Amino acid sequence: MKKKVWYTYDDIHRVIKQLAEKIQASGVRYDAMIAIGGGGFIPARILRCFLEIPIYAVTTAYYDSDNEGQVTDGVKKIQWLDPMPETLCGKNVLVVDEVDDSRVTLEFCLNELAKEQFGTVGIAVLHEKIKEKQGKLPENMPYFSGLTVPDWWINYPWDAEDIDGHNRLAAQAAE
Ligand code: G4P
Ligand code: MG
Repeated sequence: MKKKVWYTYDDIHRVIKQLAEKIQASGVRYDAMIAIGGGGFIPARILRCFLEIPIYAVTTAYYDSDNEGQVTDGVKKIQWLDPMPETLCGKNVLVVDEVDDSRVTLEFCLNELAKEQFGTVGIAVLHEKIKEKQGKLPENMPYFSGLTVPDWWINYPWDAEDIDGHNRLAAQAAE
């Protein structure tokens, strides 16, 4: 079974502060974020505390389906910026998600967003898993990650039904 790790809201806030510093040091001034929900919403909101730029949002869902022994996976739009607000035309946008895992969701979103008239498009993720990636990111796209992590299953606090139990598991693992 895959190893698991638990992060608290405080752990995440600290990592996002470092992520913001990397983004600010890059020299590009981003005008807005596009958060990929659900996982990208809370990271984008915390990042806003440091970057002070507005958040736009899209939501996708990743599915695995086993169709007569053929396993296919894919991403579907739950909600999209359609039409894209004119206020984003020509602007530098930072696409924000919680985790760079297989890159299937990221590739899907970046391909869709490539149809729009933006300035620079950058990617910011809280956690970058070190593993072989199925999806491809456009070459030369600015990429920022808060923390690189092994290919373990990450338990995020926003998924916790028992946040105190979640925090205890995070504390035990840190001992
Ligand atoms: P990527 O392009 O960002 O690498 O994501 P990928 O398609 O590989 O991820 C598929 C789904 O699995 C995403 O959920 C992603 O958030 C989730 N995921 C991947 N690794 C982890 C992990 O270690 N822990 C948790 N909790 N989730 C993980 P999604 O369909 O976007 O749903 P949502 O939860 O963001 O709404
Ligand atoms: Mg997600």
